[in-house]
Amino acid sequence: MGLFDDVLSSDQNLIKNEEFLDYEFLPKLIPYRENEQKYLATSIKPLFNNRSGRNLLIYGAPGIGKSAAVRSVLRDLEEETDDVFSIYINCWEHNTSFKIFIRICDILGYRFTQNKKSSDLQKEVLKLLDTKPVVFVFDEIDKAEDWDFLYFLLEKIFHKSIFLITNYKSWLLTLDERIRSRLMPELVEFKQYNLNETKGILKERCDQGFVQDVWMNDAFETVVKKTGEIKDIRAGLFLLKESGLIAEEKSKKKIVKEDVDLAIKKLNEFSIKSEEELSEEEKFVLNLIKDKSGSKIGDLFREYESLGGKISYKTFQRKILKLEEGKYVKLTKQKGSGGNTTIVEKVNLG
Ligand SMILES: Nc1ncnc2c1ncn2[C@@H]1O[C@H](COP(=O)(O)OP(=O)(O)OP(=O)(O)O)[C@@H](O)[C@H]1O
Ligand SMILES: [Mg+2]
Repeated sequence: MGLFDDVLSSDQNLIKNEEFLDYEFLPKLIPYRENEQKYLATSIKPLFNNRSGRNLLIYGAPGIGKSAAVRSVLRDLEEETDDVFSIYINCWEHNTSFKIFIRICDILGYRFTQNKKSSDLQKEVLKLLDTKPVVFVFDEIDKAEDWDFLYFLLEKIFHKSIFLITNYKSWLLTLDERIRSRLMPELVEFKQYNLNETKGILKERCDQGFVQDVWMNDAFETVVKKTGEIKDIRAGLFLLKESGLIAEEKSKKKIVKEDVDLAIKKLNEFSIKSEEELSEEEKFVLNLIKDKSGSKIGDLFREYESLGGKISYKTFQRKILKLEEGKYVKLTKQKGSGGNTTIVEKVNLG
């Protein structure tokens, strides 16, 4: 018997369309975000009359449809008209002004960016964008390492709307005053979904991703409940897919609660395991943050030193940034009387 005979012979047909379960998949409609989408659309309407639109700072917790709602509005815009450029950039992937200018050229189909300096790219961007109004979306804006591109776009492009998306409203306070006063964004908050909405979203993805009637009711309800606790739709999508794979591995015809329980374990293990990947020093710092969540970074460092910690303040800051990148902690910049400071909070993974 070959190693894969059982795979080939078993009918693994619980998952019908895996792509519907992907985080990046953009559904046709984004329910429960109708008001937000209308507001975004209204904000760019002046562009159709060759005026400037509104600038927005869109903020809210992870996994609650910010990117999805904005991408959906841009998709509608592109389907409806060729009279407006739409430029969506994720600043986690394109995190410097230079990379952002290259990305804009790329989106607009200009390919001769190699060996070009930032100033040359800027000139190209101006030429390319000269003909129509533009909507810019900078997603995960808090990951951008510099803001020169914002200053440039604000100063040089006339008919535009700029949407910035972030998890932290306070990010705005970290922005250079000259940029902030030019940007003057309106704040758009995305609130977390309630349990009913969470269920509606997951049901839709489930219906599209799975063969009909393979989910036992209590199994699906368990996914909804857990997602409701974590308050992040991505966790729900992970559980749907993982439970499906677990049931398929056992060649089952139905997905039952035990499959979901195993998937939940995996979700929890995933966060515990990644904590094990940290060095001893990083774990020490993380534990300190867990004890003192919400402290200022300077106060945490003093606490760290008083407990016998030996690394310098700079190294300590770097370790905290690394913990932020791994989503173990959340950093919020705050402007105080004595200058800027960073608040460090723990992140609950599940
Ligand atoms: N109302 C909704 N309808 C359908 N799918 C949704 C809805 N809200 C969120 N989702 C789905 O949940 C997942 C996470 O949503 P999204 O990527 O928009 O989160 P986000 O708010 O941008 O989070 P982050 O701040 O971490 O980037 C995506 O797969 C998205 O399609
Ligand atoms: Mg997002």
